[in-house]
Amino acid sequence: MFELTPETPEDWWEVEALYDLCFAPGREALSSYRLRDDVPPVDGLCVVARDEGGILAGAIRFWPVRVGGAEALLLGPVAVHPTYQGEGLGGYLILDSLDRARDGGWARVMLVGDAPYYSRFGFRRLTDVEMPPPTNPERVLGVALKAGAWDGVSGLVTRAA
Ligand SMILES: CC(C)(COP(=O)(O)OP(=O)(O)OC[C@H]1O[C@@H](n2cnc3c(N)ncnc32)[C@H](O)[C@@H]1OP(=O)(O)O)[C@@H](O)C(=O)NCCC(=O)NCCS
Repeated sequence: MFELTPETPEDWWEVEALYDLCFAPGREALSSYRLRDDVPPVDGLCVVARDEGGILAGAIRFWPVRVGGAEALLLGPVAVHPTYQGEGLGGYLILDSLDRARDGGWARVMLVGDAPYYSRFGFRRLTDVEMPPPTNPERVLGVALKAGAWDGVSGLVTRAA
């Protein structure tokens, strides 16, 4: 029903429009966006989902970040068009991209989001990881793609060089 393809530069503004539709106004004021400023997203992990008519139904992006001295992936934004929400597309985009991240050699993924949603994909609160303020620490979540990948990883999340 949906075709998933890597996001291309031609998709960029369409994905931005989807995010504008799905998130509250002012989303770019969030501290997670400062971690994305002037850093390219991760090629091959940013994916768009289109319906049979070619209409954009969902999108997910990833950026590289550093936590203490360790590399991590920052998942997000991820969004599904309201007309397609609740049909499993968000979960599919997340699980598919986590598989590809693992295959690409990434060890750990973090995000700022709702634990009740992301816990079903294995995300747990990262109590030793600090997002730039203002961020509710309860929303700082991570999943290990390799066993123990978050063990001993702590500190402030900063932009990848
Ligand atoms: C969050 C989002 C990407 C999920 O995509 P989706 O395709 O609707 O999700 P799925 O169909 O895979 O899963 C739906 C389930 O997730 C639940 N869910 C969705 N958002 C949730 C949230 N914020 N908190 C808790 N549960 C949530 C739904 O209630 C539903 O539960 P059910 O399986 O028990 O019925 C989509 O709802 C969306 O774009 N929301 C607006 C943007 C957003 O909040 N993005 C995430 C930022 S943290």
